[in-house]
Amino acid sequence: MIKLSNLALVGLGTVAMLAFSGAGFADESIVTANPANGKNIFENGKGDSVPACATCHGDKAMGNDDMGSPRLANIGYVYIVKQLNNFAEDKRTDLTMQQMNGIAKGLTEQDMRDLASYEDTFPLDNPERSDLSQLKTNGAAVGETFKGKLLVRYGSKDKVSACQTCHGFDGRGADPVFPKIGHQKYVYLVNQLTHWRDSSRTNDPDMMMNKIAKNLTDDDIHNAAAYLSQASDSTAGDGMEIDNETVLKNVKIVK
Ligand code: HEC
Ligand code: HEC
Repeated sequence: MIKLSNLALVGLGTVAMLAFSGAGFADESIVTANPANGKNIFENGKGDSVPACATCHGDKAMGNDDMGSPRLANIGYVYIVKQLNNFAEDKRTDLTMQQMNGIAKGLTEQDMRDLASYEDTFPLDNPERSDLSQLKTNGAAVGETFKGKLLVRYGSKDKVSACQTCHGFDGRGADPVFPKIGHQKYVYLVNQLTHWRDSSRTNDPDMMMNKIAKNLTDDDIHNAAAYLSQASDSTAGDGMEIDNETVLKNVKIVK
């Protein structure tokens, strides 16, 4: 059996440094996070500039295809803190609803950690997968899951590395650098892959995703997104359970 945990470490050296400094972890090994404050902001917002995250990301943080918003639940603590920092610093532009940059500017570094730790309290699997047949009925181009599975697991010879070499088995995530992309929402996945390809999103360490996406056709993008959005739930028996909380072990959770 392939040892995914080892594969996922490929290239971690410089990348981890970037991710950590981006997340403000540079000088500290122990930080604190307060999931109760995260829950409060997630459900009620904060002041005038930060609306409740749940409005767009859903009560269970599973994302929403009609809004093009992503699942946030369990996609990775460090990854979330990094993205919120990137939005706040305008290193990543919200190209869908154009609100995340303003929202992130209204959050302190501590709020970001609190939100990220709250988002790690949801289930690993996704009870609200994208409804691909409904999306098709609404006119969206929807790919084929069996072709997407080949790309995710094996890549395409001399063209694209298997997504799971970095993102973990079926895209379940590999802390701290590689977010969970399995069980992510279909529309969001298609948007991001398209944005990496046309370089309208460039906040990835070492341009890893830009290089990958340049070699993807529209069909590849639709197929990979279809498969990832429907990826199977993890079972205790498949030996591939991914623990996205490795970094949380260095985070002191305050009650
Ligand atoms: C008005 C709707 C809206 C609200 C409110 C909102 N978001 Fe978002 N969020 C989005 C959309 C849409 C995207 C995808 C942006 C894109 O496609 O470029 C996004 C993206 C993100 C991402 C990037 C996730 C990834 O997988 O890279 C994070 C993190 C995030 N939001 C966190 C939050 C938090 C935390 C809050 C509350 C403080 C919040 N959002 C409130 C709509 C919203
Ligand atoms: C060489 C390692 C590597 C490979 C292989 C790889 N990725 Fe990524 N991917 C990354 C990194 C690193 C990020 C996080 C970028 C950031 O920090 O903003 C990422 C982010 C993403 C995101 C954005 C997730 C989000 O929540 O916004 C998507 C979607 C994605 N990858 C899809 C894919 C697909 C599909 C494949 C296979 C065709 C793939 N990746 C292969 C390294 C990789």
